[in-house]
Amino acid sequence: MVLGAAQPAHPSYAPRYAPLVEEHRPALEGSLIRLRKPEPTDADMLNDLFNDPEVGEHLGPIMPQPVSGFRAFIESADKDPKTAIFTIERLADRAPVGGCSFFDIETSQRSAMLGIWLAKPYWNQGLGSDAVRTLCRFAFDHMNLQRVALDVFATNPRGLRVYEKVGFRLEGTLRRAEFVNGELVDCYVMGLLAEELVDD
Ligand SMILES: CC(C)(COP(=O)(O)OP(=O)(O)OC[C@H]1O[C@@H](n2cnc3c(N)ncnc32)[C@H](O)[C@@H]1OP(=O)(O)O)[C@@H](O)C(=O)NCCC(=O)NCCS
Repeated sequence: MVLGAAQPAHPSYAPRYAPLVEEHRPALEGSLIRLRKPEPTDADMLNDLFNDPEVGEHLGPIMPQPVSGFRAFIESADKDPKTAIFTIERLADRAPVGGCSFFDIETSQRSAMLGIWLAKPYWNQGLGSDAVRTLCRFAFDHMNLQRVALDVFATNPRGLRVYEKVGFRLEGTLRRAEFVNGELVDCYVMGLLAEELVDD
């Protein structure tokens, strides 16, 4: 025996079982963002950014709303069992950067619709892809959903790219279904099944 050198543990002290607690990353955390329950103060920080017409043009016929409208939305979503809403927080500085949600949650077919928006100063930094991926992973691993679907306007190439990267597939086209900036545009229906998620 060499004194000072590491010796194998005596067989009676060696662990006989794999550790009982495995390490998992927090369910609602991605690599750049985390999703958390909205706080009333989020309305003050996010409402002006949500009212930005460049955000709204991808979300439908949305009128500018006062902070009280944002707060009312949080409260009513909280009471709706078919809806789950989250504030998207950037991990680097804990800044609230947008919101995302499941709505029309259907327990019989285990499906839900997904919605997301990010404030413009935070676009194109990978946060949206991370948020969509994190939300879908949560849906499949923790909500027992097997399908997530969404609508996206044909005039939203950034959104289309994000959904495609996460694994969503085009399922149909609703022709001239939306009125955006004075023009009728097509709307794509996209769907993601649990086994199709492109995880990171
Ligand atoms: C759509 C949205 C959530 C995407 O989030 P994001 O953080 O900007 O997206 P990411 O940075 O993760 O990814 C953007 C991708 O689109 C690409 N992209 C950006 N502009 C593009 C354009 N004009 N044409 C094609 N691709 C584009 C980027 O290169 C990137 O792809 P890559 O990773 O392969 O390079 C966000 O931009 C947003 O909230 N927009 C306004 C509201 C909205 O559109 N909501 C969704 C409604 S369905």
